Amino acid sequence: MTSPRVSDHPIDPLFTRRWSPRAFTGEPIPRETLSTVLEAARWAPSSFNSQPWRFIVGHRDTPAWAPIFDALAEVNRGWAHRASALIVIVSRTQWVPPGKTEVEPLRSHSFDTGAAWASMAFQATMLGWHVHGIGGFDRDRVRASLGVPADHAVEAVVAIGRQGDPSVLTDAQRAREMPNQRQPLAALVAEGRFDFPG
Ligand SMILES: Cc1cc2nc3c(=O)[nH]c(=O)nc-3n(C[C@H](O)[C@H](O)[C@H](O)COP(=O)(O)O)c2cc1C
Repeated sequence: MTSPRVSDHPIDPLFTRRWSPRAFTGEPIPRETLSTVLEAARWAPSSFNSQPWRFIVGHRDTPAWAPIFDALAEVNRGWAHRASALIVIVSRTQWVPPGKTEVEPLRSHSFDTGAAWASMAFQATMLGWHVHGIGGFDRDRVRASLGVPADHAVEAVVAIGRQGDPSVLTDAQRAREMPNQRQPLAALVAEGRFDFPG
């Protein structure tokens, strides 16, 4: 048993309700539902409104699934095969800003794309679906097989699905199948200067 998630300060329950299970049902996700999840990402804030995020979707049981799934680390293939869709998130690393003619780096491409990912995660939660971020995959393989150009960074893969029964998991997976906790806010916030232990 784990303790339930309790926030140190009052927040909308959505923030503690979102978590990353590994047991999924494998049922298809309606395209309209996934569009709503991605629409939430579309409205994320970004530096100069540059919107550097791009999403490459692979619904299960379609030809777009295998090139993403096959690039996952074995430990992640061990549960992600029950997801409804896998989404590769890439970000544009440079652009020509409005009113300029030269290409410039988009320094906040990862930061901004992280905001879009979080928006996806919360919108999925609100709709009764779960997302699970995946960093354990072969980025070069994804870049090659999906045709991601050099001026885009391969950020992450996201598995989306309906939460399934933990009995489908291996013992090791099941032992981790619960919402985890967080450091206290006091360990994350300092006033006036960088003042954090360790
Ligand atoms: C960018 C990113 C990469 C992650 N990579 C993996 C991964 O490769 N395998 C995995 O099982 N979980 C992965 N996770 C899930 C995290 O372990 C999880 O989000 C974290 O423990 C917090 O738990 P919660 O999402 O349930 O709140 C990843 C999450 C993110 C955001």
